[in-house]
Amino acid sequence: MLHIKNLNKHFGGIKAVKDCSFEVKENEIVALIGPNGAGKTTVFNLLTGFIKPDKGHVHYKGTPLLGVKPYKISNLGITRTFQLIKLLPKLTLVENLLIAKQQSGEHLLNIMFKPKYIKHEEKENRNHCVELLDLVGLKDKRNHYAKNLSYGQQKLVEIARILATDADLLLLDEPVAGVNPVMRAKIKNILKKLKEQGKTILFIEHDMKFVMDIADRVVVLDYGTEIATGTPKQIQKNPRVLQAYLGKKVKL
Ligand SMILES: Nc1ncnc2c1ncn2[C@@H]1O[C@H](COP(=O)(O)OP(=O)(O)OP(=O)(O)O)[C@@H](O)[C@H]1O
Ligand SMILES: [Mg+2]
Repeated sequence: MLHIKNLNKHFGGIKAVKDCSFEVKENEIVALIGPNGAGKTTVFNLLTGFIKPDKGHVHYKGTPLLGVKPYKISNLGITRTFQLIKLLPKLTLVENLLIAKQQSGEHLLNIMFKPKYIKHEEKENRNHCVELLDLVGLKDKRNHYAKNLSYGQQKLVEIARILATDADLLLLDEPVAGVNPVMRAKIKNILKKLKEQGKTILFIEHDMKFVMDIADRVVVLDYGTEIATGTPKQIQKNPRVLQAYLGKKVKL
């Protein structure tokens, strides 16, 4: 589904991503792991068109992605969450989800000539957003402001929000960082449910227990390069991976 080949990106003297290659197959859950500064978020920024690579190729379902604008990449069916939460604090949960949806009412002519149709679509969209909030267990809080939610609950809203886009490939940057164990278990179950529904997930995470519990495959980055790929069990025993983490406070 996603092919990344020899991707490179430098910031001044720092080679953030270096000859990075890996793949994600349809309906897989793949974890992208690596020490701090390994280039994981930069890979997401490259995949989603937020930054341009120096060189390399990315193909999504056979379509080249490099040089394509972020909104066009989103239209192709790829969406992401951010390492730092980016909800709109003064909007309600439903409103935060609604803005992620494509809506015909955004076109002036539709509003003027198809008012009944638009009204119907708005109602359907709202119902779908409430269903998604139900999926993450936040239906009761649908009319609360995002800013009044706990950190873990905001992470759940972020997941619900990317589902509002109907994307097939979900990129999650540290979905359980700073989240309590109860909420972490909840997020794990939601991701499993999404896989059952046919979604493909590529996620970055430092929480190794979460990674080992949920990933079908793990891709390890170190200094911007893929150094190992395998099942969670294979990765736990890989000497190159252990070496990369040596001296860093992460238990594999
Ligand atoms: N916009 C930028 N300008 C300059 N340097 C950057 C920029 N973005 C990332 N970097 C640098 O590139 C390297 C890779 O950063 P990146 O954020 O991709 O790492 P990461 O693997 O996501 O790390 P973490 O696990 O801490 O989130 C780091 O050295 C970082 O400081
Ligand atoms: Mg990061």
